Amino acid sequence: MTSLLKSIDSGKEYPLNEVRFTADNGELLDVQHDLEGLKKQFGLSKEYFSQKRALLNGQPTGGVWHFKELVLPSIPDQEVVSKQEGNTRLYRSKKISSWLGLNSDKFFLKHEGENPTGSFKDRGMTVAITMAKHLQQKAVTCASTGNTSASLAAYASEADLTGIVLIPKGNVAVGKISQALAYGTKTLVVNGDFDDCMRMIREAQEKLSAYPLNSINPFRLEGQKTIIWEILLQRNWQVPDWIVFPGGNLGNTSAFGKALHEAHQLGFIDRMPRFAVIQAEGASPFYKAYKNGFTSLKTEKADTIATAIKIGDPVNYPKAVRALKWTNGIVETVTDEEILEAKARVDAAGIGAEPASCATVAGIKKLIASGEIKPNETVVGILTGNILKDPQVIVDYHFNKKTEHANPPHEIKASINELKNFL
Ligand code: F0G
Repeated sequence: MTSLLKSIDSGKEYPLNEVRFTADNGELLDVQHDLEGLKKQFGLSKEYFSQKRALLNGQPTGGVWHFKELVLPSIPDQEVVSKQEGNTRLYRSKKISSWLGLNSDKFFLKHEGENPTGSFKDRGMTVAITMAKHLQQKAVTCASTGNTSASLAAYASEADLTGIVLIPKGNVAVGKISQALAYGTKTLVVNGDFDDCMRMIREAQEKLSAYPLNSINPFRLEGQKTIIWEILLQRNWQVPDWIVFPGGNLGNTSAFGKALHEAHQLGFIDRMPRFAVIQAEGASPFYKAYKNGFTSLKTEKADTIATAIKIGDPVNYPKAVRALKWTNGIVETVTDEEILEAKARVDAAGIGAEPASCATVAGIKKLIASGEIKPNETVVGILTGNILKDPQVIVDYHFNKKTEHANPPHEIKASINELKNFL
C-alpha cells in the first residue's frame, strides 16, 4: 500500500484515484500514507529532509515539494503544477514580542502571505490542482472568502483548467476579488454568505461533477501540512511550545494536526506542541463547541471585519476536533477591535498581514494576559495572508482620527518649505 483515501472515523478505504470527498456515510476523508513503507523506501528521517536539496523537474525546490514523499509520493514529478510555493520566512520582531510580553528569542511569525498569490492557500492548491489534472478533471470550483478563489484562479490558469469561483456578495476584500478577475477565472458573486456558497459547491460536486478545491478536498490539506514541517525544519526540529493561528473553515487546524501526528509517528518529534486556534468573536462556532467539550457544533450567522474567517459552518470540524485532541489544543476568540489593534502593531513593525492573520497576534496577546501562554514559552504564530489583500481596512483605519495608531497622510503644497516642516 502506498497511499489511499480513508474515512476519519470508520476507517473505510477508497483508492487514491477515486474522485470523492466524503465516504459513503458522509465522513470526511484523509489521504492516508503508508508511513512505515515510505520511511523504508526513501530512508526518511530528520536528517534526510534537513540535508536534501530537492529537485523538481530539474529545478531546486523547497517548500511544499521538498516534502513530496509525505505529500503525494506516487505522482510523477512532471505532473506537478507548482509555482514554488512555501519556503516562507519565519520572522522575529522585537517590536511585536515586547508588545506581547514575550521573549524576542522565542517568538516567531511564519508569513504565509509571502506565497505566490499572497496566502497559505497556494500550498494546498498546488497539490489539489495537480491531483485535479491527474484525475483528468476539466473544471475546478470553490466557495471562497477570497484567498482560495485568488489561488484557484492562478493555478487553474497555469494548469489550463476552467475555474469557477463562488464568492459572497460584499464580503470579499478588494485585493482578492481583483486577483480572481485578473487571473481570468469565472467569478460568480452570490447573494448569500460564505456558508451558502460552500453548500452550493458541495451540491454541485454531487450533482454537476465539478471538482471542488476547498479544504474539504483532502489533497489541499496535504499541501498545507508542509507549513508545519517547514517550521520544524527551520527550527532544526525543535518543537515550539505553542503554534497559534486563525480558524475559519478549519482546514489549517486539520492539516497541522495531521502533519504533527505524522511527524510524531515517523519519530521526527518526541512531543507535540499545543495549538491555540483563534476565531473572531462574531464567527466563533468552533470556540463555542470547544467550550461545550465538543459535544456539538452549532452553526451560526458569522460577522467580523476579518472577512477571510467570516464562516459559521466550518466543513472540517470533525478533523479539527481530532487535531485539538492530538495537540491538547485550545480555542480562543478575539474582538474586531483586538484584531485591528494587533494588525496596527504587525503592520507598523514592517511585517504586515491581512486582518484574519492578525487574529493570531491578538489571540497570543489575550492568552498571555490570561496566563495560558507563559512569557518564556516558545510561540510560533502563523500569518495567513498578505497585507495587500485588504487595503480598504487599512485605509479606513488610518484615515480615522479616532483609531489609536492612525497614521494618516498629510497633504502639502508643492513647496520645499512645507516639506521642511516634516523633516
Ligand atoms: N486566514 C486567511 C487569510 C484565510 O483566507 C482563511 C480562510 C483563514 C485564515 C482560515 O483558514 O479555513 O483553514 O481555518 N480562507 C478561506 C478562503 C475560507 O475561502 O479563502 P481555515
